[in-house]
Amino acid sequence: MIIGFIGFGKVAQNLAGIIESDDINFITSAESRSPETVENIKNSNVEVLDTFRQVASRSDILISATSPKNALDAARKYGKYAKGIYLDLNNISPDTTSEINKAVGNLVDGAIIGKIDSDNPTLYLSGRSASELLFLNEFIQTKVISDEIGVASRLKLLRSAYTKTLSALLIESVEIARSNALEDEFFETLALTEGENFKEKSLSRIENTLNSSKRKSEELEEIIDYFDENDLTMVKAALKKLSR
Ligand SMILES: NC(=O)c1ccc[n+]([C@@H]2O[C@H](COP(=O)([O-])OP(=O)(O)OC[C@H]3O[C@@H](n4cnc5c(N)ncnc54)[C@H](OP(=O)(O)O)[C@@H]3O)[C@@H](O)[C@H]2O)c1
Repeated sequence: MIIGFIGFGKVAQNLAGIIESDDINFITSAESRSPETVENIKNSNVEVLDTFRQVASRSDILISATSPKNALDAARKYGKYAKGIYLDLNNISPDTTSEINKAVGNLVDGAIIGKIDSDNPTLYLSGRSASELLFLNEFIQTKVISDEIGVASRLKLLRSAYTKTLSALLIESVEIARSNALEDEFFETLALTEGENFKEKSLSRIENTLNSSKRKSEELEEIIDYFDENDLTMVKAALKKLSR
């Protein structure tokens, strides 16, 4: 089996490392790519073809792991050459997934939950052919949640609504605890119900949110836009907080 990658950053590099099988070969291309990506490719065990078009037409499974901004463009450019499954792993809204579905013959909607290089990333899949990818379970926890395109990306967006809103609430609560000189006690009391590592996890979540507050705000805007018929009082408050 041949697995091809469009984009060879963290996701592709990690997957090529995790999926270790004598029956699977990886291909990609360095066409118009940055020196960093070229270096990633050199350091991995993948065959390099001249163009992404060749990669698309030779792959049994073509994985798109580029960027949310470039996902649709890549699908429109290369989707038509893919004869097998086109697995989109980009963090995109269900609306974009549905546009990609129009450009690609056999799309599987994929959502990586957790960082790809974390201890236990999980791959959620939806789409007609999603169950054909269940063999990936041997290498990475893989779940098929629907045969409908858009369900995996909707689930990911829902999860983001919760985690990003919670991060904004955490930032606010810790600020208040600090100004009352009760930060340690605040974490101590919460750890009683939220689990032992609550403080470490919270501080890492806060740091991560503050370091990428622009991107997180954009993601919250996307959530507000997509679920516009729902009550989004808390999500909107989180956006207001992060925009400050
Ligand atoms: N990292 C994670 O844990 C994680 C988890 C869930 C979802 N995701 C999603 O997975 C996707 C990839 O993430 P990543 O962390 O691997 O990103 P990354 O490290 O920034 O790598 C992106 C790769 O895509 C390439 N690329 C960008 N536009 C392209 C195009 N039009 N054609 C071909 N290649 C293109 C980049 O090449 P250049 O260097 O030349 O720009 C780079 O090799 C993103 O959409 C992200 O939202 C990531």
